[in-house]
Parts: sequence; C-alpha cells; structure tokens
Amino acid sequence: MKKYLVIGNPINHSLSPLIHNYWIKKHGLEDSAYEKRRVEKKDLKNIIKEIKNNEIVGVNVTVPYKKLIIPFLDELDSVAEATQSVNTLYKKNDKIIGYNTDEAGFGLTIDKLYPNKDTKIKSLKDKNIFILGAGGVTSSIVSALQRRGAKITLSNRTLKKAEELKKSFPGIKVLDWGKKPHTCNLVVNTTSIGLKKDEKININFTGYDKNVLFYDLIYNPKETNFLREARLNGNKTINGEMMFLNQAKYAFNIWTSILPEIDDGLIKHLEQ
Ligand code: ATR
Repeated sequence: MKKYLVIGNPINHSLSPLIHNYWIKKHGLEDSAYEKRRVEKKDLKNIIKEIKNNEIVGVNVTVPYKKLIIPFLDELDSVAEATQSVNTLYKKNDKIIGYNTDEAGFGLTIDKLYPNKDTKIKSLKDKNIFILGAGGVTSSIVSALQRRGAKITLSNRTLKKAEELKKSFPGIKVLDWGKKPHTCNLVVNTTSIGLKKDEKININFTGYDKNVLFYDLIYNPKETNFLREARLNGNKTINGEMMFLNQAKYAFNIWTSILPEIDDGLIKHLEQ
C-alpha cells in the first residue's frame, strides 16, 4: 500500500484527502491512499522516519508546521529555500526533500486571472499589490508576486514579522497595521481572519477604484467578510479554492509524475 498524508494541527477541516483520493481513483492507483493526521510538534521526527522507512510515500504539511518541519529535512527545493516554507515532502535518492508548491499554486491562479477584462489589467508587472498578513503562507505569495514583477506593500498586526519578511524579500514596503495604501491594483488577505464566521479585518476599503481585485486565500468559508464587503463595494473578488487545488496538483505531480486535472467532477466532489 502506498500511503500519503497531510499533517497539521488542527487537521479535521482539511480537504486535501478528498482531492488526492479523487485523483488516485481517477488515475487507477488502486494501491494508494491519502489520509489526514493530526500531529504534535514532537511527532515531526517520526513522520520523517516513516518516509525514510517507506511506510509513507508523500506528505503534505500544513499549519502550523510549514517552517517547523525544515530542520528535519535533508534538502529543500529552491522555492522552499527562498520562502522558508514547505508544504510537500518526498524521498528521492534516500534524501527527504521539502518542496513548496504553494507558490506555484498561487502563481498559476494569478496567471489565469491576467490579462483581466474586468479590471482591464494585462499583467501584474509593475502593478501595486497590498498584502495583509505575514504568517506561514505569506512568503509564498510575496515570492510569486515579486517573480511577476509586482510591487508589494505589506501590513501585519505584528510589525516585527513584516519586517522579518522584508529581510528575505527586499523591495517590500511595510505599512502599520490598520493603514492601507492610497491606491493599488490587488489586495490579498493572507491572514487567518475570516476563518471564523464573525471575524473582520479592521480596515475599511471603501473608496477604492472598482478595478481593484480582492483576493482571499481562505476558501472555507467561501466568502469571508473581507470578500463580502469588497463585493458590496462593487469590486471583483476571488477566494483561495483555485490556489488550494493548484498546490495539490503540483504535489500530486511530485509524488506520481502525473499532472492531474482540476475537472468539474473534482469541483463537484468538493462541494458535497
Ligand atoms: P503564524 O503567524 O504562526 O505563521 P499563520 O496562521 O500562518 O500563523 O498566520 C496568521 C496570520 O494572520 C498572521 O499574519 C497573523 O498576524 P500576527 O503575525 O500579528 O499574529 C494574522 N492574524 C490572525 N488573527 C489576527 C487578528 N485577529 N488580527 C490581525 N491579524 C491576525
């Protein structure tokens, strides 16, 4: 049996098993199964041991272990190295390698959004992006956007974490929490505010041009207060579902060499 896992804490909400088991079935990989496992920090070492012993083939890593897993790994791919964030593990030539597919997952989603007829923006090159948050996933978003030549302003409740991120990604402009740039083309929420239904970001985005696109990495709930308010202001919005599916697609590819499709059946499967 080829076993795959997503590890994190909490993990109950994770939709990764639904996605990967859908592709496993679709591609006839009958000897494979993907499960979720809630782990404590002290368990990380054992996860690596299980991969070394071929008890587990591939692992997805989610909150709060994307950085904490790094000391246990033999190698990082270039994106994981640059972002210091790992969401996929795989053994190659007896070495446990940490990959980051969040960056490419977000990048692919963004690439499909532009050129954009609603916002009349051709590409993100030299465009102004406002990022909220400086948590585990933010470095992947910053990296993908800088790779596309975008200019980034970032704000986080804990200023120190924003300043830390700036050290790895020079060029970021840091704003105090609660402030917003006068103008921008895209606003991305990378904070966890909105995961719980009543949570709200204490920034008022009224008065922004209708061409500004609002992007929330959260996909459950489908529409956070952040996106709801943007929509009511007349702005276009997008949630984190496609990025989530795309990062899963690239992880599946690392493990199986198959690049699976995000087809209608999968989208329906997730909505059940
Ligand atoms: P971590 O910070 O451990 O990497 P995360 O879930 O990846 O955790 O990130 C959570 C993000 O949401 C952080 O940017 C966090 O801000 P802080 O760095 O100040 O903690 C942000 N966040 C969560 N709850 C928030 C709140 N109520 N108000 C403002 N920011 C919040």
